[in-house]
Amino acid sequence: MRIDILTLFPEMFKGFISESIMARAIKNNLVEIHLHDFREFSESKHKKVDDYPYGGGAGMVLSVQPVYDCLTSIDGYEDALKIIVSPQGETFKQSKAYELSNKDHIIIMCGHYEGYDERIRDYFDYEVSIGDYVLTGGELAAMVLIDSITRVIPDVISKDESHINDSFNNNLLEHPHYTRPREFKGKEVPEVLLNGHHKRINEWRLDKSLKKTKKIRPDLYKKYKEENNG
Ligand code: 6GU
Repeated sequence: MRIDILTLFPEMFKGFISESIMARAIKNNLVEIHLHDFREFSESKHKKVDDYPYGGGAGMVLSVQPVYDCLTSIDGYEDALKIIVSPQGETFKQSKAYELSNKDHIIIMCGHYEGYDERIRDYFDYEVSIGDYVLTGGELAAMVLIDSITRVIPDVISKDESHINDSFNNNLLEHPHYTRPREFKGKEVPEVLLNGHHKRINEWRLDKSLKKTKKIRPDLYKKYKEENNG
């Protein structure tokens, strides 16, 4: 998969793409990341990328020209899936991460300032938010998207680090995990996990998942119930 990012802060991505699973996915040619600073495309004298809002009001608005010229400079942009990250978008979900992991080419636009010139939206397919809170810019949101998409691309995570049991794949939060030691400062690992009885272990894990989900995410629990016949 090829991912192109339009941003005024390409440096913010450098650490993110050079560590851990992202770095490995890039090294193994499973994903390719291209950073574009759209300020470089500004035709204004001082490389401005924003301006005052028509009609007045607080804050600055991102101009259409630098974004358009940056976007259309990208090889194959016509056929790519083009996404804007902003608090106005639909909320990003695990199911979307799976859907996007099948694409060959994704372009992500990160904005700052109060907003985008509405005409920028005409050049993108849709708009994504990562949750109901406001960030200073779209870069962290773009990294969230890229991380969650990359880890579900086939072969990025090996089968024994499988993501199939992740929280949200079945609308349940994950069950608790334990590793050695068997006892730490008087805190014991639950007995059921020690005896290798797989059916009982699975029942225990499902029970823990259900209880945790019901308590912490009643909205997810309701969905689980609906999809598993009450
Ligand atoms: Cl995508 N951008 C910004 N600036 N804030 C956000 C967001 C995106 N998603 C949630 N909050």
